Amino acid sequence: MNFPDLNTQSPVRDFVNHNPVIAIEVFAHHKIDFCCGGEKTLGAACEELGLTPGAILEQLNQAPSPAAAEPEENWTDLEPSGLIDHIVTTHHQYLESVFPELTEITEKVVKAHAANHPWLAELQEAVYYLIQDLKPHMMKEEQILFPMIKNMEKSMSGGMAHCGSVANPIRVMLMEHERAGNLLHKINELTNGYQPPEDACETFKHLYRLLKQVEVDTHLHVHKENNLLFPQVLERAEAL
Ligand SMILES: [Fe+2]
Ligand SMILES: [Fe+2]
Repeated sequence: MNFPDLNTQSPVRDFVNHNPVIAIEVFAHHKIDFCCGGEKTLGAACEELGLTPGAILEQLNQAPSPAAAEPEENWTDLEPSGLIDHIVTTHHQYLESVFPELTEITEKVVKAHAANHPWLAELQEAVYYLIQDLKPHMMKEEQILFPMIKNMEKSMSGGMAHCGSVANPIRVMLMEHERAGNLLHKINELTNGYQPPEDACETFKHLYRLLKQVEVDTHLHVHKENNLLFPQVLERAEAL
């Protein structure tokens, strides 16, 4: 039993915090949103998708633990400053490193295959907007919001109750996460859940693998911000 303390009334985000490898695998397979919709109970999230909550809970509990799973840094226990550093070095750096390759490969695939697969133009547009949204989004987090949070933490430990309002930038970030989530959803639909067509060449298949990786990583990234970092920060800001 992978989730002995959770049931269909538990928020989906709790499953991800408890065992991210298994929860993300099962949620991604059933398209259960655990980042922007992380507050919903498993039961409510399943019912919206026409899934049986008990059956999904059973799958979560019975899924075999991948033996070769990488030992993950225990990010669920981190304080805001540590969580920020973890998010930047794990997810922001990953996205920054993958964007140039993603742009280049998308262009190549569109050039070679758009004649036979006209929807590729729409895919290229969605990838373009995703990158154009996420780049400045991460920059705003790194240059404005995250330093604000770190300053707030410092002033709290120094006994000085001074902090700018973090609530407004957090609200903006949440809206931007929602937009990125919608674009990822669109990319998932356009690629038929990352199933390459029969005539796909190796580059085409590689593009789909890359897009799937970006989706999985971004969902976890947004989960850590929406469901762990931001609630902790808002709670502390309120206490000041
Ligand atoms: Fe981020
Ligand atoms: Fe973010």
